[in-house]
Amino acid sequence: MEQNELLIGQTLTWPSDPFSAGWESVRHDARGGLLIEDGRIAAVGHSDDLRADNPTARVTDYGDRLILPGFIDAHVHYPQTAIIASWGKRLIDWLNTYTFPEEMRFGDPEYARNAARQFFDLSLAQGTTTVASYCTIHPESVDAFFAEAQARGLCAIAGKTCMDRNAPDGLRDTAQSAYDDSAALLNRWHGKDRLIYAITPRFSPTSTPEQLKALGALWADHPECPMQTHLSEQLEEIDWVASLFPEARDYLDTYESAGLIGPGALFGHAIHLGERERARIKETGSALVHCPTSNTFIGSGLFDLGGLKGEGQTVGLATDTGGGSSFSMLRTMAAAYEVGQLRGRATHPAELLWLATEGSARALRLEQRIGRLAPGMDADLVVIDLASTPVIAQRAARANDIWEAVFPTIIMGDDRAIAEVRIMGEPVAKV
Ligand code: GUN
Ligand code: ZN
Repeated sequence: MEQNELLIGQTLTWPSDPFSAGWESVRHDARGGLLIEDGRIAAVGHSDDLRADNPTARVTDYGDRLILPGFIDAHVHYPQTAIIASWGKRLIDWLNTYTFPEEMRFGDPEYARNAARQFFDLSLAQGTTTVASYCTIHPESVDAFFAEAQARGLCAIAGKTCMDRNAPDGLRDTAQSAYDDSAALLNRWHGKDRLIYAITPRFSPTSTPEQLKALGALWADHPECPMQTHLSEQLEEIDWVASLFPEARDYLDTYESAGLIGPGALFGHAIHLGERERARIKETGSALVHCPTSNTFIGSGLFDLGGLKGEGQTVGLATDTGGGSSFSMLRTMAAAYEVGQLRGRATHPAELLWLATEGSARALRLEQRIGRLAPGMDADLVVIDLASTPVIAQRAARANDIWEAVFPTIIMGDDRAIAEVRIMGEPVAKV
């Protein structure tokens, strides 16, 4: 039998959602421990107790570093890595000017393979152990993503991005080919190792009602798969959707009428929602994904995190790179904090860390596998140095509790704070 390993460091564990249970419900142990067995967390507790109970376990002591579940980026576009930080455009112009020309290149399997490799190097370096990514319309882009994720042992979600209108030549499929390609990719990849296929209409402006219905039918046959798309990101986009779908009651209705709503649905951005939309998202058990660096970078608006969580919505957190401006979930938490401040609510560090881990896991329906330090969970972990730069170190040195110690890293931290990343218990080599 493989030897067990005992990881020691500061730990945070949450019995439930701190947005509803209060941040005080999150437990901190300055000398916490995790017992790792066969790639999973076998026990969580105080390090002295775990040591006494497991005297033969190999010990790795991280000192006062913080051991967390690996970060989960619930909405990202791996093919947009090369166009991150592109200047001066709002959503629709940004797609046409920067995004679509780059996505055109992913019909070339070698280009896609190199991009996927670079993408996972960048994400893992930031402590992100699971992503839910869009690919391009090319099946090759999906194969490249999953092959790379599989080789690295990752739990990863992705799907072919479907578009049959309002996109350039070479970047459009049809209702039928979107269905056929998606079905073939789903059958090829879904459930293999730790891989999950997501049915992925890009957004209503680039899909005909026929294509949305075809993907709704595919989802009805595979309700175990997530369905990811964009919803109500920018006001101009919402006006465009209204003109493209004159019958629809609102933006959400363009999906709802095609069967694209319900458990497993992931609606990215969801900034400008009406009352009916909020109610239907909640009633149907759909999830929202907050993409704060993207929403500020592209100028989309201020997501109502406090209001939406307050009414019981399921919300995950995401970078949305390349619309988002960073691969770092620390930077993404900082942006969520800043957007919250602009809306008059100071999101607590416990809430931010929860959103980036279990919050995203719940949105992706993976909370039984990842996102929490608890027995039985996969040991996808990130170890955080809370004094990774001089300015962070001097601020953390003044901390009176764990929250004051961790907040400077949330606000100012980057990949230098990522001391170690583990996938199924195994350390990931730094690149
Ligand atoms: N809406 C439709 N496609 C996209 C995309 O690639 N990025 C963002 N931010 N919004 C979108
Ligand atoms: Zn997106």
